Amino acid sequence: MKSYIVNKNVVRYEFGKPIETYSVIEKGVSESDIEFKYFQLNLGEEIKLKYNMGKKDIVYGLGENIRGINKRGWIYESFCTDDPNHAPDKKSLYGAHNFFIVDGEKKFGVYIDFPSKIIYDVGYEKKDKLEITIEGKDADIYIINGETVKEIVQNFLKIIGKGYVPPKWAFGYIQSRWSYPTEEAVESLVNEFIERDIPCDGICLDLDYMDNYKDFSLSDERFPNFEEVTRRLKSKGVKIIPIIDAGVKIEDEYDIYEEGIENDYFVIDKDRKPFVAAVWPGKVHFPDFLNKDARKWFGKKYKCLIDKGIEGFWNDMNEPAIFYSENGINDAYRNIDELRTKELNIDSFFKFKDVVLGLSNSMNDYKGFYHKTENGIVNHYDIHNLYGFNMTKAAAEGFEEIDSNKRFLLFSRASFIGAHRYGGIWTGDNCSWWEHLILNMKMLPSINMCGFIYSGADTCGFGSNVDPELAIRWNQLSIFAPLYRNHSSMGTRNQEPFAFDEYTEKTIKNIIKFRYAMIPYLYSEYMKAINSSDMLIKPLSFEYNDEFVSQIEDQLLVGDSIMIAPVYEPNKSGRYVYLPEDMLLWKVKKYTSKDFDVINKGHNYINLDLNEFAVFIRKNRMFVYGEPAQNTELLNNETLNVLAFVADRAEYDLYDDDGISKEYLLGEHSNLNITITLEEDKHTIVVKNSGNNKVKELLVTIITAEGKIITEKVNV
Ligand code: GLC
Repeated sequence: MKSYIVNKNVVRYEFGKPIETYSVIEKGVSESDIEFKYFQLNLGEEIKLKYNMGKKDIVYGLGENIRGINKRGWIYESFCTDDPNHAPDKKSLYGAHNFFIVDGEKKFGVYIDFPSKIIYDVGYEKKDKLEITIEGKDADIYIINGETVKEIVQNFLKIIGKGYVPPKWAFGYIQSRWSYPTEEAVESLVNEFIERDIPCDGICLDLDYMDNYKDFSLSDERFPNFEEVTRRLKSKGVKIIPIIDAGVKIEDEYDIYEEGIENDYFVIDKDRKPFVAAVWPGKVHFPDFLNKDARKWFGKKYKCLIDKGIEGFWNDMNEPAIFYSENGINDAYRNIDELRTKELNIDSFFKFKDVVLGLSNSMNDYKGFYHKTENGIVNHYDIHNLYGFNMTKAAAEGFEEIDSNKRFLLFSRASFIGAHRYGGIWTGDNCSWWEHLILNMKMLPSINMCGFIYSGADTCGFGSNVDPELAIRWNQLSIFAPLYRNHSSMGTRNQEPFAFDEYTEKTIKNIIKFRYAMIPYLYSEYMKAINSSDMLIKPLSFEYNDEFVSQIEDQLLVGDSIMIAPVYEPNKSGRYVYLPEDMLLWKVKKYTSKDFDVINKGHNYINLDLNEFAVFIRKNRMFVYGEPAQNTELLNNETLNVLAFVADRAEYDLYDDDGISKEYLLGEHSNLNITITLEEDKHTIVVKNSGNNKVKELLVTIITAEGKIITEKVNV
């Protein structure tokens, strides 16, 4: 083992000869001699780390995963998995995010940079033992220090590089379904949003826009006027966002397939032939995203859709998901034939079932193909978790080449830390279950800790049928996530806002309008989080320190000014909240609601009818919002509302930029600095404007600690 000082807070320990994953941008150069602290180490064919957790230690992190914000009590596997059944007994989902923090008497962060399977037993076998098994002997382990958990996260986010920034329109509402099968269906959907006065910025196209599920192809039958429709909808403020899958259909005369074969761009099997698997298109080859040339080739393919007016994509099935492989299915048939020769008894019946169920995403398959990397041939299993990351990278590098100053929307299903620099993620195939609403809430901060700030779940749930109440409550949470997309599976109940009764539609419309009103705040907080290597959505315990907050997992901080406490159970007209300090409760029915109440520190019950949700403004903070519009292009934020809860002094920086170019990277942005001071009966509001700000006027509402309301109009 060698150690390297990355900076004053981070040490890298190098075990063996790790594969370069490119997840970290600052690795430290000069070798040092620093002891590997905290863990008992066991080195062999695998690396094992053991730690004795204190009774009250909390373990944060592990990104996209099941269970709570505190990961204690379960066993997790870091291995990107296509499993649509996110049941509580699962161990892994689509992402592999190997960053965690132990917060107790000792406080430290750990990032394991290793691209294959890692098992985290966080007090599962033995209640107080944290035991990590890295399936290999070559890995980089980073130990990250900091005074507080928040600082540890920041120190981690600094070494993995600044997060992805989408165009501003990607903060609008996105409607999706598998599928809106024809261009007529898509157009009438958009018109319906407009006619019903429900804001919307994007429609996702699922598989059916393609010709036979072939990437970068279009169905002549269902989308004969793809470009015309895309451009017409764009002129109405709505972008079309097509899906791209990892597998390339094997079909003669299909250009992508033929180019891939000709140039050797696909992953290969042990006989050096392109590996054959089956996914939605039937038999496919997988592009070798770990290979620079293949990545470049695939990335440039996005141009054919970009040339037709497309500005955003979602990359799917890139764990990669495998329904079955050619070898797998042949073995299965052989096994079944053998079983058929005997009489079926209980044992052979279950064996039969297992043969069939074991076909998808099998470890044999992941061990059965190879990548041609700069460092030679690598077995897929050994780098499994990098596949989705490199598909994201392929697309992002392609965009960069196609139009280097333009921001494109991009989100992926599979991910690994490092991919956060290139795109966002959605959390895959959840279900329309109340359990998945609370899971969504708990996952958001964990994902944020791992750098994926542009993220969100399928609002209302992907699988199974949503009920109206769940649809409303889910929207009340999703408006606070940067990626706000409503997506559902084929065969399930439609869940567009107008697929429900009048009350539900009206309520969801008001929720979406609130989202559009809060875009100035959300975007400002998003950009500040990216620029200062911070999280956007945090657990309360990252900002407050008292005996209760560390256990709160159903209230979240969104940006620096507000706390949310969504209702996540059916038939509830309210919920308990814990306030670590006095806060201002804004009970929102509409963005114009004026229902304010100062709530005292401590445990409180808050009534929240189905058409109401709570926004808590923290003490000495302010929340800025404007007027909603049909889409983000139409937002006119010359006049903004400032809602401030002030005990003595509050200050806020409202960041903004053009929302479309990459000039923010050169510091091109505006900042509106607002300071409000209260002294006895006197209040002062000072506004400083820098950059090219569009804001002309602020309608300020100050609510004092005693609940006194002061309003003032301020010219900027
Ligand atoms: C996968 C995706 C889902 C998509 C479906 C069909 O299940 O996770 O979002 O709708 O494939 O493309």
